Amino acid sequence: MYGKLIIKAFIVLSVAWTLHGAVTCTAAGRFADPADSTCKNYTLCVLVTANTSYIGYNYVCPTTSLFNPTTARCTTTYTCNGTTTNTTTTNTTSSAVCTTDGFVADPSSTNCSSYIQCVQINGTFLETTLTCPTGSFYNPNTTLCEVNYVCAFTCTAAGRFANSADTTCQTYYLCVLTTTGTYSQYEYTCPTTSVFSPTTRLCTTSYTCPTASG
Ligand SMILES: *[C@@H]1O[C@H](CO)[C@@H](O)[C@H](O)[C@H]1NC(C)=O
Ligand SMILES: *[C@@H]1O[C@H](CO)[C@@H](O)[C@H](O)[C@H]1NC(C)=O
Ligand SMILES: *[C@@H]1O[C@H](CO)[C@@H](O)[C@H](O)[C@H]1NC(C)=O
Ligand SMILES: *[C@@H]1O[C@H](CO)[C@@H](O)[C@H](O)[C@H]1NC(C)=O
Ligand SMILES: *[C@@H]1O[C@H](CO)[C@@H](O)[C@H](O)[C@H]1NC(C)=O
Ligand SMILES: *[C@@H]1O[C@H](CO)[C@@H](O)[C@H](O)[C@H]1NC(C)=O
Ligand SMILES: *[C@@H]1O[C@H](CO)[C@@H](O)[C@H](O)[C@H]1NC(C)=O
Ligand SMILES: *[C@@H]1O[C@H](CO)[C@@H](O)[C@H](O)[C@H]1NC(C)=O
Repeated sequence: MYGKLIIKAFIVLSVAWTLHGAVTCTAAGRFADPADSTCKNYTLCVLVTANTSYIGYNYVCPTTSLFNPTTARCTTTYTCNGTTTNTTTTNTTSSAVCTTDGFVADPSSTNCSSYIQCVQINGTFLETTLTCPTGSFYNPNTTLCEVNYVCAFTCTAAGRFANSADTTCQTYYLCVLTTTGTYSQYEYTCPTTSVFSPTTRLCTTSYTCPTASG
């Protein structure tokens, strides 16, 4: 847990300080830092659609894992010289969200602002929650943070949730747990002039929608 916290803090700092990554980005994706002979550093290149340029954000693979440029993931099965070795431990323990090395959506994030980096270390998955660079959203298809990705809401818990794609704050989702353990998802619109407050999770006229003109 302590180690996890350190990793999180470190990533936040490295992102804040290096808007332009160690890699000169020419495409969206994750790329190894060629200057890093230890194979731990990589850069996430995010396409800025407004001016079709790329911004790089630097990351460091957690603990003993290394960045495999072929799979574009942190893994313990990669050796820095470019040859892969077989894992010594293939025993996978059950994990909350991780099933393989790589990146998965963060089930606790309904607005696609964060995702989870999975690295199998000694048979258990180390899960690191990473935040997408400001203005970009996690696309589960590409496993990248993308500026033009429209976050599709999916229920991961029961209750009412704001529709982050609705800048007028008038619509929200209701998630109902069914007897089969899955969620039924319904989209609602708040009545008349009321808007959905993400804090009280109710339609109200006392909440001011942050992006609405006023
Ligand atoms: C790897 O990244 C860390 C943190 O940003 C940095 O301190 C270190 O110098 C980098 N290593 C190389 C070889 O660039
Ligand atoms: C493109 O836009 C981003 C975000 O506004 C900015 O940081 C970057 O410098 C711009 N790139 C170019 C080449 O203008
Ligand atoms: C990796 O490179 C180092 C130094 O060049 C060498 O000692 C080592 O044997 C290499 N490992 C593999 C798996 O090729
Ligand atoms: C890795 O596994 C492959 C097949 O599973 C095998 O052919 C190869 O010899 C193994 N390599 C090592 C270094 O054990
Ligand atoms: C590893 O696999 C063995 C046999 O398949 C199993 O008994 C054991 O519980 C597993 N250990 C872990 C940590 O999953
Ligand atoms: C996404 O939700 C988190 C809290 O779950 C919030 O901190 C963050 O500001 C939100 N991001 C966007 C872009 O709405
Ligand atoms: C993995 O297990 C080996 C041997 O049990 C141990 O030396 C090593 O420190 C472990 N690695 C991590 C990251 O826990
Ligand atoms: C993601 O993939 C699914 C299945 O291939 C496809 O239906 C969906 O449109 C894709 N979504 C995006 C945002 O690319």
